[in-house]
Amino acid sequence: FTVDWDIEAASKGGYDHFMLKEIYEQPRAIKETLLRRLDDNGRIVLDDINLTKEDLDKISKIYIVACGTAYHAGLVGRYAIERFAKIPVEPDVASEFRYREPFIDENTLLIAVSQSGETADTLAAIREAKSKGARILSITNVVGSSVARESDDVFYTWAGPEIAVASTKAYTTQLVALYMVALHMANIKKSISEDYYFEIIEKMKALPDKVEEIFKKSDEIKKIAEIIKDKNSVFYIGRGLDYQTSMEGALKLKEISYIHTEAFAAGELKHGTIALIEKETPVIAVASQDYLYEKMVSNIQEVKARGAYAIAIVKEGLDESLNHADETIYIPEVDNILAPVLTVVPTQLLAYYTSVIKGNDVDKPRNLAKSVTVE
Ligand code: G6P
Repeated sequence: FTVDWDIEAASKGGYDHFMLKEIYEQPRAIKETLLRRLDDNGRIVLDDINLTKEDLDKISKIYIVACGTAYHAGLVGRYAIERFAKIPVEPDVASEFRYREPFIDENTLLIAVSQSGETADTLAAIREAKSKGARILSITNVVGSSVARESDDVFYTWAGPEIAVASTKAYTTQLVALYMVALHMANIKKSISEDYYFEIIEKMKALPDKVEEIFKKSDEIKKIAEIIKDKNSVFYIGRGLDYQTSMEGALKLKEISYIHTEAFAAGELKHGTIALIEKETPVIAVASQDYLYEKMVSNIQEVKARGAYAIAIVKEGLDESLNHADETIYIPEVDNILAPVLTVVPTQLLAYYTSVIKGNDVDKPRNLAKSVTVE
């Protein structure tokens, strides 16, 4: 009598790949990141962050430094911190930041975002900033990692282990972490009203169920994967926070499907990039921001007029009659600032299914490593 038991299959919990398992773990991971840090009054409590009002009043500039997907989280973090805490933020990729003599002094806060907490360039950026007097706050998933140990303040994302090289639940929990850090700073500085503070927290609590809703679109997304699987290039366009999702979506698809992808700020199309659109070129247009919707609709029309196959990711409630994309994936209604947590999910699933259809090694794509500990 023998039992066929494979430890890897067992840890995938019935999913074909770690990536799919981790995509589906997002509602739980977001809950974990958020709910365990709310006190009885619904206020955010961050045990490992010791910023006082005096500290925050002193901070004149924040850099958010990271690599890859974590950098894309930082781009969203800029919006949240500037909106809530009203402090200027400059995101940068760690490998650039450390070599460009950034303006750092003791009034600088550097926020490092790193799933593994071991990325060499991010660590080097921390050391560089620290040597010039900056305070370091890190957002990481790995407890006791090098990034965490070298920081003054730490926020652990508590996403659980992420095995697939393509980052999914680490990203969405980094977003939630950045919103929470921004709200926490705002609460200390009193830079937003109590009502607005609690309103955003309430809206964040609704995110896990909304992510679940998007999973119901898997069959639609699989069909789109069939359409794009043999294409040479796929473009992503968006404005504002949808541009940040475009960048993350483009990275996800290229790293596991090996299709060339690029993300453009939709308003930049006419400045040259539209020359790349040919007949049937897939263009994925992200449109979740109410105040930018009409502009996005025009951009979709522009690419369609050049023959593109337009695939839109649109927030429910935005005027459907304006949208003339060839395919549309709807995401649930959500506040503009929180939309990146939802808009990225269809792009993760699209990348996943495209990679599966192509027969690629989804969890371990060629030439990539989960954690890059060399420069
Ligand atoms: C590698 C991984 C990416 C990740 C990046 C930063 O390139 O393949 O998924 O986003 O490193 O990693 P970190 O652990 O610092 O978030």
